[in-house]
Amino acid sequence: EKDGYEHYMLKEIHEQPRALRNTMTGRIDQGCQRILFPDLGLSTEGIKEIEKVYIVACGTAYHAGMIGKHVIESLAQIPVEVDVASEFRYRRPLFKGKSLTIVVSQSGETADTLAALREAKRHGSSILAITNVVGSSIAREADHLITTNAGPEIAVASTKAYTSQLIAFYLLGLYLAQEKETLPAQERQILISALQKLPDQVELVLANAEGIHSFAHSIKDEGHLFFIGRGLDYAVSLEGSLKLKEISYIHSEAYAAGELKHGTLALIQEGTRVIALSTQAELHEKMVSNITEVKARGANVLGIALEDNVELHRSVDDVCLIPSTESLLTPVLSVIPLQLISYYTSVALGNDVDRPRNLAKSVTVE
Ligand code: F6R
Repeated sequence: EKDGYEHYMLKEIHEQPRALRNTMTGRIDQGCQRILFPDLGLSTEGIKEIEKVYIVACGTAYHAGMIGKHVIESLAQIPVEVDVASEFRYRRPLFKGKSLTIVVSQSGETADTLAALREAKRHGSSILAITNVVGSSIAREADHLITTNAGPEIAVASTKAYTSQLIAFYLLGLYLAQEKETLPAQERQILISALQKLPDQVELVLANAEGIHSFAHSIKDEGHLFFIGRGLDYAVSLEGSLKLKEISYIHSEAYAAGELKHGTLALIQEGTRVIALSTQAELHEKMVSNITEVKARGANVLGIALEDNVELHRSVDDVCLIPSTESLLTPVLSVIPLQLISYYTSVALGNDVDRPRNLAKSVTVE
């Protein structure tokens, strides 16, 4: 049932190309011009009236929501707030005007996310669920549903659910933009064709992952580690850090690279391991200067960058290259090496990869 893989997590990491294709199936027209969501139940008029979007989720799904915020704001020009469900429930959001609350949950059963859904509904917000489980509580109670169709996820550490949630957000962002006419058709088509290339590109990243193995071995005895990035790369850093903590039990922290010098830089010493993501052309120079800052304090840096970014090579100790794509779409590719780093580190430490200590797959208690 693990198809020859040693762990479910590795199997699910390798299932991502197929999962991403399945998330897209039936949602892009033949000519790759338009996004199709015939059963979503959001009318063009209704979409135009949305003044505010809330995204609510826990853990990895929350990290997908952080990317979702960038996507919806930049494509559909709607302001988005993103919250952890256990915070959202109790912070009394204002719900002024017409709002759409997007709840993201692989299992569709997470207690805090379900409670947040009910709270938003009580305040008159329409609910759109992004979930991997069709008959789940969250799927049933939502007004609008996007299923990720990634197939069952068994490993506690979420991998294919995350990347398929990202695809769901891209499709949704493009759809809202299409109905609101906030994005020129040509730009939409460029993004759609880049989106369709992602599954093959994920395959390439997986096929060229040998370097990750030795990197994982080299960090297994570290006491702590940093992930740094800006913008989308910061959101992916949070996910990479969570994955590493969850299954390798090594403490790590993800930091918005520009915030380092406001305190955390004090923790960087000779030999501190740092994973720096730099996939956003417009933020690249800023990242190089942040990398220089940590290197000047003795950090050992692994850079994760797009293959055409030769400049980064000179500023880091090691580099892991990912195929080029549109800047909005890089998270789907840059998270793959991070998933593999956490996986191989956990294996190297002899941990129970699929069932890490203290954690459950579906968190149905608050
Ligand atoms: C981490 C992980 C968790 C879940 C979180 C939400 O790898 O899997 O952080 O993402 O518990 O679960 P769902 O998406 O089922 O609501």
